[in-house]
Amino acid sequence: MNRTSPRHRHRARTIHRLAHNGAVDDHDPLASFAALLTERGRFLLDEVREVEPAQELAVATRLRREHPAELVSAAIAQARWRQRAVGKFGSADAGRMFFTANGIEQATRATVAAYRAERFTELGVRSVADLCCGIGGDAIALARAGVRVLAVDRDPLTCAVARANADALGLGDLIDVREADVTAVDTSSYDAVFVDPARRGGRGRVFDPEAYSPPLSWAVEAALKAPRAALKIAPGIPHEAIPGDAEAEWVSDSGDVKEAVLWFGTEPGLVRATLLPGPRSLRGRGLPDPQVRPPGRYLYEPDGAVIRAHLVAEVAEEVGGGLLDETIAYVTADAVTPTPYATAYEITDQLPFSLKKLKALLREREVGTLTVKKRGSAVEPEELRRKVKPRGPNSATVFLTRVRGAPTMLIGHPVSSDR
Ligand SMILES: C[S@@+](CC[C@H](N)C(=O)[O-])C[C@H]1O[C@@H](n2cnc3c(N)ncnc32)[C@H](O)[C@@H]1O
Repeated sequence: MNRTSPRHRHRARTIHRLAHNGAVDDHDPLASFAALLTERGRFLLDEVREVEPAQELAVATRLRREHPAELVSAAIAQARWRQRAVGKFGSADAGRMFFTANGIEQATRATVAAYRAERFTELGVRSVADLCCGIGGDAIALARAGVRVLAVDRDPLTCAVARANADALGLGDLIDVREADVTAVDTSSYDAVFVDPARRGGRGRVFDPEAYSPPLSWAVEAALKAPRAALKIAPGIPHEAIPGDAEAEWVSDSGDVKEAVLWFGTEPGLVRATLLPGPRSLRGRGLPDPQVRPPGRYLYEPDGAVIRAHLVAEVAEEVGGGLLDETIAYVTADAVTPTPYATAYEITDQLPFSLKKLKALLREREVGTLTVKKRGSAVEPEELRRKVKPRGPNSATVFLTRVRGAPTMLIGHPVSSDR
């Protein structure tokens, strides 16, 4: 924005009013945010830091006696977002960072961003154009890995927040935030580009990669022009949509699938599943689908990243197992082989699907804590638990699945990790 334009003068006046005196008659999110960075704004942020939802109204009423109402509301909104962001960014960073409602939802969690930044540095990358930087989740991790970042977003408030985050975390010298449409930015002087397109439309998540903003085809073109690139995409992307010149990596953190990434300039055609913390990376070897075989003593539930990456065959080979059913990603084997890529269960009982039989068996075993897992069954775990009413001191896991097409229940317990 031109700094002497009427819009800029108006905004400067609004910030001044918000920061220094009483009521403000207009609403400008950018001005409200800028006012939060003033001395008064920071004082209010400190005042509301620990505020519980139940106390918000009372605290806000007290603070509004001496401070502009809009600034108090902005500080309370940040406090709420900071609390919500602890899971993604950890309490130390979340407590210093700034957010927007969308920015917090869309940001990459710190563990995943740090892993990606490490991969970039291992590839020799020293500078990255972060196209669609949001509030800076990835830019922060890259800068912390020593990478110089051009962080681009077209939303002015998001850029202001990203800039404030870089400063708050002492990374301002490494992160240059630019308000622009990414399709108009020259990235030729950077070692790599990273694109994390917006995948939320007006009505929730967008599934068609061409409906991403910017569309996936634009991101792929930008990636192919750069020496190295990574594009973050939805984990549910059909494998047919993956360009042949990309490596595809699915990433999970503590068992939850977080994202898929297309890498360019690494190993075209490679498919891998990476599990955090770790990282532990399982590389695809193009194995054929595993054989279907009768249930053995052990059942392996592959990590979600392994399943999304279509690497169940690699896990089956590692544990010497096969599938219970050709359409279901449960692996069965006679022996227990420790693997980071799947959780092993010892199976004690196999029954055709029947609530009555399950109830009787659980009563006989005095099972009060029942974990329900399912693949290939429409039964709702909560409903099942309500109907069988588990009671007793023991615990068990029931798998609702199919064995060669037949609805089946397999009952067992996790193999302890120390064996
Ligand atoms: C998924 S978020 C990025 C999150 C970010 N990686 C992080 O960890 O915080 C996507 C961002 O892309 C921005 N965006 C979408 N289309 C854009 C375009 N054509 N040019 C610039 N920014 C764009 C949106 O404003 C949004 O902030």
